[in-house]
Amino acid sequence: MITPIRLIWLKLRHRLNWRVIKLFMCMGYGVFMIALVIHMLQSNPGPVKALKSSPYRHLYLEEEIPPEIVQFEKQIVPGLGEDGKGIEIKDKKLLDETVKKYAFNRLASDQISLKRTLPDVRHEACKKIQYDDTLPAASVIIIFNNEILSTLLRTVWSVLQRTPPEFLHEIVLVDDASNLTEISTVLPIYLKYRLPANVILHRLVEQVGLIGARLAGAKVASGEAIIFLDSHCEATEGWIQPLLQRIKDKPNNLVIPSIDSISDKTLAFNGFPGGVGISVGGFTWSGHFTWIPFKHNGTRKPSDPAPTATMAGGLFGANREFFFKIGGYDEGMKGWGGENLELSFRTWRCHGSMENVPCSHVGHIFRDFHPYFIPHDSHGINTARMAEVWMDEYKRLFYMHRQDLQREIPSPIDIGDISSRVQIKDTLKCKSFKWYLDTVYPDKFILDDQSIAYGRIRNQKYPNICFDHLQRDTAHKNGFYFLGQYPCHNVLGDSQYFSLSRDKFELRNEYMCAKSFDNEGSIKVQMVGCRDQQSRKTAWKFENGALIHVDSGLCITAPNDSAGEELVLSKCDGTKQQMWDFEFLNP
Ligand SMILES: *[C@@H]1O[C@H](CO)[C@@H](O)[C@H](O)[C@H]1NC(C)=O
Ligand SMILES: *[C@@H]1O[C@H](CO)[C@@H](O)[C@H](O)[C@H]1NC(C)=O
Ligand SMILES: *[C@@H]1O[C@H](CO)[C@@H](O)[C@H](O)[C@H]1NC(C)=O
Repeated sequence: MITPIRLIWLKLRHRLNWRVIKLFMCMGYGVFMIALVIHMLQSNPGPVKALKSSPYRHLYLEEEIPPEIVQFEKQIVPGLGEDGKGIEIKDKKLLDETVKKYAFNRLASDQISLKRTLPDVRHEACKKIQYDDTLPAASVIIIFNNEILSTLLRTVWSVLQRTPPEFLHEIVLVDDASNLTEISTVLPIYLKYRLPANVILHRLVEQVGLIGARLAGAKVASGEAIIFLDSHCEATEGWIQPLLQRIKDKPNNLVIPSIDSISDKTLAFNGFPGGVGISVGGFTWSGHFTWIPFKHNGTRKPSDPAPTATMAGGLFGANREFFFKIGGYDEGMKGWGGENLELSFRTWRCHGSMENVPCSHVGHIFRDFHPYFIPHDSHGINTARMAEVWMDEYKRLFYMHRQDLQREIPSPIDIGDISSRVQIKDTLKCKSFKWYLDTVYPDKFILDDQSIAYGRIRNQKYPNICFDHLQRDTAHKNGFYFLGQYPCHNVLGDSQYFSLSRDKFELRNEYMCAKSFDNEGSIKVQMVGCRDQQSRKTAWKFENGALIHVDSGLCITAPNDSAGEELVLSKCDGTKQQMWDFEFLNP
């Protein structure tokens, strides 16, 4: 019904002037709308409802715009926030309450134009690049639950305004069962009256969480490329070409834009061009994403994409066919979390690659918390699914952090059926996790394999006492602390897991290395972030049970058998207080 009318419209547009069109429209419009409403009422509402916005938006007169939209647009203060500037809310109490409730300043969002301008922060080297005239057209997929309408629509408009139409196949909005009136009522009306026909809204009747919603979006998307964006982003000038070019050149390559920050307090856009140095993704054995510096040999140009071992997960693009070929997302994952590492490991292992593309810039509001429902521990349970399927025998290092999720021990926690995910590995003949570690992320420290000795470190005089980080360890955040002692746990968990590394003789755990520190006359064992370079300051010897600091020649000593004391470094005297047993020794 729609397509022939659109054809007529396109033909008419060439022949008739605007006044005649309006006249035609006034007569035809009423009849058409009645037919449309009848059609919508009759159609059977399935689990997923798809609403297409009207292709006739040009035909609406301003006086026909419904009051909901007029009211919504009235909040905007012309000129505020232009050029990516932030706005200060003077009333601090109001600001605090707003940020606490919505996780960012929605007052600012409501006042700033949905089509505000942004600075072009691309590196000069990026602006000079000539991209192909023909690139795969993208479906941009944006999922949300109770997102602030102005923020969501600013995301949509930023894409519409800054994507050449030939590269934008569609925007797929997936509403994960929001119950905010703004989203459930105003958004569909806005879509119909204000947005072009290639913006599509899918409403999920029951909340399925981030992973399910994204999968629903990808399934209905029909562009050659798909690009996922969060619902609180702003795409900048030239954002899409660098991504699509890399997808075109290498369809098995997942691409990640450079993410600029939009302040959660003022909505100021803070973009940086980037340079020769660039950050890429890493991971912790506990199953979290981290940023790490990209290692290069000095020939890297600021515009060069950088291979990355993992992705943060919110924003990325892929060839749609490849995305589904390697298994899309794991439908057994609930809520939020873990899906980004799962996709990362799977992509690399199943003959794909991933890279950060520094010439593509997208702004993103970083929020301190998720203002929506997440099932209990969905991150942990999803990560256990991921570890079972994609980490091979290295899953032991994840379970060291989450013994409660280990499947071998009877557990009330059910991670669900993973057989269809395991099958992907066999069908696609994916490489091993060891290959991934060796090839893609060779700097990742493997606590057991790469050590002379590891595990719990038990004192010989006080056999109940073990090395312990006393819950002071902040992993990749590298906050330094003094190492302590605590009664040995029954099972080896991360608080008592230490290694003597084979290559640099570091006494360490995943991120932190031991050195000596003179704390007002008492010399302590201080944990600091490990360095790439070997250093005498962090080198240790393990000789006849003594742990000797190479630089000072001092021995680690248990002061007594009290729980929670800090270890001390003292002159080696051969007493049992300075003698330690590692739980495991490597030959
Ligand atoms: C929306 O749903 C949440 C929980 O799912 C509930 O707490 C809240 O009251 C609902 N809000 C409205 C406006 O219905
Ligand atoms: C530096 O690294 C790049 C990319 O990995 C490689 O192509 C190039 O040959 C290397 N150059 C030198 C001098 O090692
Ligand atoms: C254990 O040693 C520490 C440090 O030397 C000391 O502060 C603490 O009082 C001692 N505890 C006992 C019970 O002796």
